[in-house]
Amino acid sequence: MHPLRLAPLLPAHIMAPLALSLDRRRKARVEPLLAANGSMVDVVRQALTRCKQGPDPHSERLIKQYSHILLEELRNSEPGGVDHFAIALDQAVRSRRPEIMDWSGVPLKYKQLEMKWLDQFNVRMGSYASFAAHVRTAVAGLKQARIYDLAAGSGGLMRYMAAHPAPGTALDLTASDLHPAYVATGQELATAAQLPVRFECRDALQLHDLKGHVELFVCTQSGHHLDSGALVAMIAQAIDVAPRGLVFIDLLRSLGNVAAAALATGLSCAVPTMQWDGMQSVRRSYTPAELQLLARLAGAQQVDVQVQRPAFVVLRASR
Ligand SMILES: C[S@@+](CC[C@H](N)C(=O)[O-])C[C@H]1O[C@@H](n2cnc3c(N)ncnc32)[C@H](O)[C@@H]1O
Repeated sequence: MHPLRLAPLLPAHIMAPLALSLDRRRKARVEPLLAANGSMVDVVRQALTRCKQGPDPHSERLIKQYSHILLEELRNSEPGGVDHFAIALDQAVRSRRPEIMDWSGVPLKYKQLEMKWLDQFNVRMGSYASFAAHVRTAVAGLKQARIYDLAAGSGGLMRYMAAHPAPGTALDLTASDLHPAYVATGQELATAAQLPVRFECRDALQLHDLKGHVELFVCTQSGHHLDSGALVAMIAQAIDVAPRGLVFIDLLRSLGNVAAAALATGLSCAVPTMQWDGMQSVRRSYTPAELQLLARLAGAQQVDVQVQRPAFVVLRASR
């Protein structure tokens, strides 16, 4: 058995004890923070409404600027008596430096190799199976549901779900990504395996035209590629367009998970740059309290954030 198969047995708090206890305190401060900054929240919501009419760079700038300010406020204004070591550690772990796969000069072949490796990694670690369970729960009770995966790379999750149908809701599956080469690879793999998955090139920040065509959006392991303003814009559009909103899954930021990412990539891939990207993915990720703040800022009324073993945060957001 590949050692990665054992990873899902690890409870999330083992790799992130300080990060999660700090985050619990931050979570309690999300609603008071939003209430205390009502005018900033209003500016963001109005800018989000203006963006529905079409591209609006000024409004996008406002969303980015104010989301960042509120996120920093959550991270930096700790009440007295909290653990300063945990705060300093989180500051040291956090990074916005891009992954190598996002550098513009990196050859496409390399990027495709990394995407292929990630797809295999997700299968080996059982991630697709656990992500699929969240997706099915989110559409439970519906006879049929159109699921639209955003920033899906080569659509591994949708291909997995098509290959492993479950009783209950009949699913119509679409995978999308900004990058045409990943979409083309996904399409080829789905066609070869005769899997009923549709593929589309799409920016995850342009969803308005999908109104009436999607019941649930999904976004896995991609949120850390987006800045906080882009994440707010994506969540706002997803909950506006899809009645069941968004299932968003990403890595949990903690020092232990940075080390785990180095170990897991090292065990399963000989390319050192992938080890760097694995660690950087964790460092760029958002914590449960941060996601709760951004989802509420985006206008979500129903927000549920859970930690999932071994190293994920699952956000469900809807109107
Ligand atoms: C780490 S991969 C995740 C792939 C897949 N969702 C998974 O769980 O393995 C991140 C993906 O996000 C995509 N991406 C980044 N920004 C995007 C955007 N604005 N719109 C659509 N896709 C985007 C990248 O092209 C890349 O395929």
